[in-house]
Amino acid sequence: MAPVQARVVRAIVAVAITAALVAGLGLWQPSGLYLWLKALHVIAVISWMAGMLYLPRLFVYHCDAESGSKQSETFKVMERRLLTIIINPAMVVTWATGLWLAWDGGWFQVGWFQAKFVLVLALSAIHGVFSRWVRDFAADRNTRPGRFYRLMNEVPTLLMIAIVVLAIVKPF
Ligand code: HEM
Repeated sequence: MAPVQARVVRAIVAVAITAALVAGLGLWQPSGLYLWLKALHVIAVISWMAGMLYLPRLFVYHCDAESGSKQSETFKVMERRLLTIIINPAMVVTWATGLWLAWDGGWFQVGWFQAKFVLVLALSAIHGVFSRWVRDFAADRNTRPGRFYRLMNEVPTLLMIAIVVLAIVKPF
């Protein structure tokens, strides 16, 4: 199977397993389910954010490595693995558990949640952009300087701060 096809199949299987788990738990409804899913949500959020904060740092270092060098090839492996083993699955689990919590807690109508939802959509879009940059670096197509990635490092940081304040303080 071609690598792209294999990646798509892996992503579909991961989404299906997570959706089945969340749906199964929703039907079973063991006591304390909401809090267990919230714990899982926060664990997934930490993993997603760890990756989203580290990946642009790798891009910064990768810019200093000459194309085709051993160092550059090592960065390619690190970036691909970080994205496919940590960041992508963590995002799927964050979304699945977050949507379940929102549905079960009746949060969709509440202001803080709607604001958080918009910011989380922005974070997911940045995730998509980072994935494209991983592919660009893998094909030695990057043309941007390290300074650009250092700046981009701040975007997920700022979004994370706003999202956590909205979720915990619930100011409106
Ligand atoms: C991907 C879409 C997401 C959805 C649909 C979602 C939804 C939710 C919901 C409904 C809750 C429960 C609120 C409560 O019971 O008080 C929650 C909790 C939480 N979420 Fe999210 N969330 C998402 C992503 C994120 C992200 C990206 C972060 C951080 C960067 C985050 C951080 C938190 C935190 C810290 C809590 C715990 C709040 C508390 O217990 O006081 N969430 N989320």
